[in-house]
Amino acid sequence: MEYVTFSNGVRMPQEGFGVFQIPDHKEAKRVLLDAFECGYRMVDTAAAYMNERAVGEAVRESGLKREEVFVTSKIWVQDIGYEKTKKAIDRSLAELGFDYLDLMLLHQPMGDYYGGWRALEEGLKEGKLRAIGMANCYPHVIADLCLTAEVKPMLNQVEIHPFFQQQKNLDTMKEFGVVPQAWGSLAEGKFGIFTHPVLTAIGKKYGKSAAQVALRWSVQRGIAVIPKTTHKERMKENLAIWDFTLSDEDMRAIEPLDTGRSEIVDHFDPAFVKMLHALKVHK
Ligand SMILES: NC(=O)c1ccc[n+]([C@@H]2O[C@H](COP(=O)([O-])OP(=O)(O)OC[C@H]3O[C@@H](n4cnc5c(N)ncnc54)[C@H](OP(=O)(O)O)[C@@H]3O)[C@@H](O)[C@H]2O)c1
Repeated sequence: MEYVTFSNGVRMPQEGFGVFQIPDHKEAKRVLLDAFECGYRMVDTAAAYMNERAVGEAVRESGLKREEVFVTSKIWVQDIGYEKTKKAIDRSLAELGFDYLDLMLLHQPMGDYYGGWRALEEGLKEGKLRAIGMANCYPHVIADLCLTAEVKPMLNQVEIHPFFQQQKNLDTMKEFGVVPQAWGSLAEGKFGIFTHPVLTAIGKKYGKSAAQVALRWSVQRGIAVIPKTTHKERMKENLAIWDFTLSDEDMRAIEPLDTGRSEIVDHFDPAFVKMLHALKVHK
């Protein structure tokens, strides 16, 4: 396992485990305890995933020390804004049963996210948050925030996979010292990723699956990944990417797969923006 280092020196495992779409309390705990057993030491949750409480309980029941697990959470859209975000930080900490979070993100650059960002900066100064970042920022958005904020986002979590490569976003993050993290690094199974002929053929050379090639391709681009699965065998498979290296030729063969667009979300569609604003995760 490699680590990435944020601008303030905090380190995070480059591969972690995402718990999106596992809202059931018992199931989320079971999945996470399995993930810890497989060796994952970084968890990506969010207020909107409705499983922060399960994550906190799983960490405590795992037998691992709190400082052995890196935990990220995210502030949902309805809580973005200076006062609202301040309260939401405390709400997440209470749900998790933690006195600090390793990383807190604003889930979307929506609403008063500059106010929300100031609340995260304060959480950092107060020691409630060890690191702070953004999610779903396209290049112009992350550039603007980096040029304006007192503390630059340390990480930007965006959709990246072989079919949506986001090179310009990666170049922008590099320029401003922002660590890139991929959500949907397995494209949520879209684009036929798990049986894709190019990824499968590359994997064959190394005795690896298409999923492993896709994850390895991301980490070799300097991206942190957080694949999600509820299956223990797949947890092991997704973690077994640290014992091989894709050649330059392999990396180049994946480049033409880029479609330049997402099949999962459309931040440029007003209906999608309205849907995100309408989603409430608490009263
Ligand atoms: N910031 C954001 O807006 C945002 C958005 C989306 C996600 N995220 C975060 O990123 C994490 C990962 O993204 P994601 O969950 O959207 O998608 P993902 O990790 O790209 O894909 C997950 C899907 O792939 C399947 N899968 C996983 N490993 C597999 C394997 N080795 N072989 C075959 N199928 C496999 C899973 O099925 P099974 O579970 O049935 O195995 C699940 O359906 C999330 O859990 C969440 O923490 C953040």
